[in-house]
Amino acid sequence: MKPDGELLREKLNVLSKLRFHNIKITERMKKAFLNVPREEFVLPKYKNRAYIDTPLPIQAGQTISAIHMVMIYVSPSCTDPQVGETVLEIGAGSGYNAAIFAEMVAPEGVENPGHIYAIEIIPELAEFAKDNIERSGYTDRVTILESDGGNGYPEKSPFNIISVAAASKLIPPPLQEQIAFNGRLVIPINKMLYQELVLITKDEKGNFSKKNLGGVAFVPLTGKYG
Ligand SMILES: C[S@@+](CC[C@H](N)C(=O)[O-])C[C@H]1O[C@@H](n2cnc3c(N)ncnc32)[C@H](O)[C@@H]1O
Repeated sequence: MKPDGELLREKLNVLSKLRFHNIKITERMKKAFLNVPREEFVLPKYKNRAYIDTPLPIQAGQTISAIHMVMIYVSPSCTDPQVGETVLEIGAGSGYNAAIFAEMVAPEGVENPGHIYAIEIIPELAEFAKDNIERSGYTDRVTILESDGGNGYPEKSPFNIISVAAASKLIPPPLQEQIAFNGRLVIPINKMLYQELVLITKDEKGNFSKKNLGGVAFVPLTGKYG
């Protein structure tokens, strides 16, 4: 295990390079990134590479997303999570992105903390995410569920944010139905040779608008809407 000082240096170094991805890092994003120990969300053999900005293999042929991708998802031009909001994450994987959301909607000590429901379809990974979330101290703010996330989670809907971390041909209709007024949904949509990160927003009257945030590369969404 690396000493704390070295980990902090690596974290600050990776943050400083995010400008090359054109990401505006707010103070809240920086705090969230510094607070979540990514080394607790990667496989033991990759702990030394936890602060290299790349996807890393986890179980079942899946990956923990690259750091810049996680930061894009929580940036002001994407989901822009606010304290007190409820988030549905599809594709919990390692649980890392869920922990970052937790730091933004439910930072320690706030009066009105939000909550994250993170769904994972692969049982082995749902267990992995649960263990990582527990070890890192986020169980009060993050609930990991094992099911097909394409169906959303009607029991706790609507959600201020729905964040999909796997690529789909279309926006699963149940997810669009579960966006709250003034809510945001982000999802990679398959195109011919790449995927486009699409942001759907729903205004206070229930009108939807759509924005393309650029090309990305994600593993496929499986299940009913895969
Ligand atoms: C790129 S990984 C997600 C990385 C994750 N956000 C993290 O922080 O580690 C995509 C995940 O989506 C999961 N997935 C794919 N289709 C799914 C579905 N229909 N419902 C829930 N999870 C799904 C995969 O099993 C995989 O773990």
